[in-house]
Amino acid sequence: MNFDVLKSTVTDIIENNNLDIDSRLKNICSVLQENVSYYNWVGFYFANHDTKTLHLGPYVGAATDHTVIPFGKGICGQVAESNKNFVVPDVSAQDNYIACSITVKSEIVVPIFVNEKNIGQIDIDSHVINPFTKNDEIFLEFIAEKVATLFK
Ligand code: SME
Repeated sequence: MNFDVLKSTVTDIIENNNLDIDSRLKNICSVLQENVSYYNWVGFYFANHDTKTLHLGPYVGAATDHTVIPFGKGICGQVAESNKNFVVPDVSAQDNYIACSITVKSEIVVPIFVNEKNIGQIDIDSHVINPFTKNDEIFLEFIAEKVATLFK
């Protein structure tokens, strides 16, 4: 796995105007999940600021019941309010956490900004404890910036 190669692949997907936005987002999820061994569930949530809820978008991995998450609830809901990356090395140590599966041990959520507004996020679950480094954050911030261009 090489983040620079993946950045280039994701950029190509973003720029492929032959696909609709959801197909491009789903392809990004697949590329990430297939090429980073510890990315086991990769998906997008998008914010509705009127209802203060997050809504599940394209994803790859186990089906989840958590298709709508109120702002403030779980790791995702907290990022909707904090506007900051949230790296959780061990989900069992979190009180405000929404469990999708007992196989999930850690999680990283990175917000997506369009014109400085937090419109949603990339959410990644891992079956490994404490796998995420600063490099994952930098990589996922790059992806979030690319995804944001689809909504400008
Ligand atoms: N664990 C998340 C819920 C979403 S799933 O990971 C797909 C959370 O605590 O917000």
